[in-house]
Amino acid sequence: MRIAMIGAGYVGLVSGACFAEFGVDVCIVDTDADKVEALRQGRIPIYEPGLDRLVAENAGDGRLSFTTDLQEALHGAEAVFLAVGTPTRRGDGHADLTYVFAAAEQVARAAEGPLVLVTKSTVPVGTGRKVEAIVREARPDLEIDVASNPEFLREGNAIGDFMRPDRVVIGVESERAAKVLKRLYRPLYLIETPVVQTSIETAELIKYAANAFLAVKITFINQMADICEKAGANVHDVARGMGLDGRIGRKFLHAGPGYGGSCFPKDTLALARTAQELGAPATIVEQTIAANEARKAQMAERIIAACGGDVRGKRIAVLGVTFKPETDDMRDAPSLVILPALVAAGASVTAYDPQPAHARQALPAAVEFAASAMGAARGADALVVLTEWNEFRAIAPRKLKAAMGGRVICDLRNVWDPVAMREAGLDYSSIGRP
Ligand code: UDX
Repeated sequence: MRIAMIGAGYVGLVSGACFAEFGVDVCIVDTDADKVEALRQGRIPIYEPGLDRLVAENAGDGRLSFTTDLQEALHGAEAVFLAVGTPTRRGDGHADLTYVFAAAEQVARAAEGPLVLVTKSTVPVGTGRKVEAIVREARPDLEIDVASNPEFLREGNAIGDFMRPDRVVIGVESERAAKVLKRLYRPLYLIETPVVQTSIETAELIKYAANAFLAVKITFINQMADICEKAGANVHDVARGMGLDGRIGRKFLHAGPGYGGSCFPKDTLALARTAQELGAPATIVEQTIAANEARKAQMAERIIAACGGDVRGKRIAVLGVTFKPETDDMRDAPSLVILPALVAAGASVTAYDPQPAHARQALPAAVEFAASAMGAARGADALVVLTEWNEFRAIAPRKLKAAMGGRVICDLRNVWDPVAMREAGLDYSSIGRP
C-alpha cells in the first residue's frame, strides 16, 4: 500500500515515519526544498525522541521517501494525508485554513486516479465539507473520498502516542475511505486499539473537544493551586485525591505556570471562535483562555515578589524555557511572557535549556544562555524552574545553595522537595504547596 503525506512538519513527519514502520510505502511531500534535502540526508529539523532512528531505518528500507514534487508523491498512492499547518489567523483567532484548502486543490488537480483524501491537520468543524467542495470542483471527473483522521500526538512522546494510542478517530462517509483507513491502521486493530468511527464533522470536533478539555483540566488545577496557597493546602495531594476518582483521572492535573505549546493555545482559541459563530458559545473554554493568559503574567509578578519586590540589577537564573520537557519547541511557551517581563523589570536573566535550538531566537536578546543548569545558577540572586526537564530533579539543594549568590528559588513546576530545599538554607517557593 502506498500513501502520500502533505507536509513535513511535526505531524506529517511523525505520522509518515510511523505509517512506514507499519509497512506502508510513504512519500512525504513539502514545498520547502531545503527541508526535503535535509531529510533525504537523514537530518531531522525537529527534536523528537526516536524520530531520527525511525526515519533513518524506514528510509533505508525504501519505505519512506521525501520530495517537493506532488505529482511524484501521488503516483500510485491510494490515500493522501493533509498534515499542513493551521496556525491562528491574525486578528480574529480563527484557524487559518489557507494551507489546507490550497493543498486539497493541488492534490485534486494532480491526482491520477481515485483517492482518499484524509485531513490530519487540526481543522474546525465543517472544514472537511469545504475540502470536499474544493476537490469536487477541481476534479468533477475523479472519485475523491474525503475523510478526517485527527492526531493526538504529544510532543516528546509522539512515536509512542502513534504506535500505542488510546484510540484512533476516523471520520468517514464512504465504504472505500473506511476500508483504506482500516487497512492503514491494521497493526493498531491487532493490539485492540479502540477505533471511533464517526461522521467527518464529529471527528473534527473530537479533536478540539479533547484538547480544550485538557486545557480546562490544567487551568482548573492551576486555580486549585492558587486556593491551596491561600488556604495552606497541598495541590499535589488535592490532585491525587481527586484524580484517583476514575471519573476524573490523575493525568493532566499538574499545576504549573500555565499551558503552552503548538496546540492548546491555538486550538482553544479556534474552538471558542467557532462556537461563537455557531451561536453555541463555549464559555468554559473562553474563561480558560483568559485565565491561562493571566496566569503567565502573574508568574512574572510572583517571581519579582519572591525577590523582594524589586529585581533591578539582580541576576535571575531560569531553568527550562521550552513549553515542556523533551522538545525544543518554543511555541507559546510561558517563558515567552515571563522572561520579557523580568527583563523589562530590570533583571539580568541567564537561561539554560537542554534543547536551546530555537530559544535564543524566540527570547529577548538581553537573555543570556548558560551551557548547564549549574552554569546558569552560578552567582544568581534567584533561580526559577519553568520547564520540568528530568535533569533538574537530580540537582542537589546544597550544591545549588553553594553555587548561587542569593537564596531565592521559584519552582514553578514543583520538581524539588520543599523540605530538602529549606534544609539547604534556600528560600524556596513552589506552586500550591505549603
Ligand atoms: C497536546 C495534546 O496532549 C495532544 O494530544 C495534541 O495532539 C497536541 O497538543 P502537546 O502540546 O505536545 O500535546 O503537550 P502536552 O503534554 O499536552 O502539554 C501541553 C501544555 O500543558 C504544556 O505547556 C504542559 O507543560 C502543560 N501541562 C500539561 C501542565 O501544565 N500540566 C499538566 O498536567 C499537563
